[in-house]
Amino acid sequence: MTNKYMYFIANWKMYGGLNSLNSLHKVINFLRKFKKNNFIKIVYCPPHTLIRPMSKKLKNSLINVGAQNCHENDNYGPFTGSVNAKMLKNVGAKFVIIGHSENRLRGENNKLINIKIKSALKVGLKVILCIGETSVEKRKKITKQILSKQIKLGLDKIKNKNKIIIAYEPVWSIGTGIIPKPEDLFNTINFIKKKFKNFKVLYGGSVNTKNINELKLIDNIDGFLIGGASQDSKKFIDIIKKTYI
Ligand code: PGA
Repeated sequence: MTNKYMYFIANWKMYGGLNSLNSLHKVINFLRKFKKNNFIKIVYCPPHTLIRPMSKKLKNSLINVGAQNCHENDNYGPFTGSVNAKMLKNVGAKFVIIGHSENRLRGENNKLINIKIKSALKVGLKVILCIGETSVEKRKKITKQILSKQIKLGLDKIKNKNKIIIAYEPVWSIGTGIIPKPEDLFNTINFIKKKFKNFKVLYGGSVNTKNINELKLIDNIDGFLIGGASQDSKKFIDIIKKTYI
């Protein structure tokens, strides 16, 4: 895995204020000096409130900024509390996470996710589409059906798929400290890549500085979507470093 192009997406969720940007220089400097930096793509997805100040801070660095969600409407409109893809682009986002399970659990379905993806692509944002089965679905052994449905409906009638990255995040793994067995994870990623060709597929769910040693050995993974551990610059750097040792 040492010489492979990998994504490291930091999902800050609803955490962080302006002072959280103070330690970013550690990541910027680390990446500048790191010998294998041309294999690494770091994308920070902070809350909407931090996209602008973060983009300014990361200007001239090798790091991109993304958002964690967007409203499905292309244009401005009477949608109180919402932000659309065009507005995210305007403040410096290059990527947007769509379909995260925390939003699916609040009612976002595949059809809505599909509209959101189209609106994001339209303004030139790259999309990180999150998919993943719940623990009940895993127990029922319907993981493959669930993932296929999420991808098929999520990407319905979308042509330029090269701007889309898939993040496989089993819901039961997010924030729990539990990760899938390596052979299960390899097989699931393999299934996705065989069925839906030419996609980069990331893994997300409790990635940390310890289990990265195990995860990095699964050689069909194209990177990681990291929640909790990405809010601490030292841990985030440690995860990236260990991936390349
Ligand atoms: P976690 O979150 O790393 O804290 O489990 C991952 C995610 O929800 O994207």
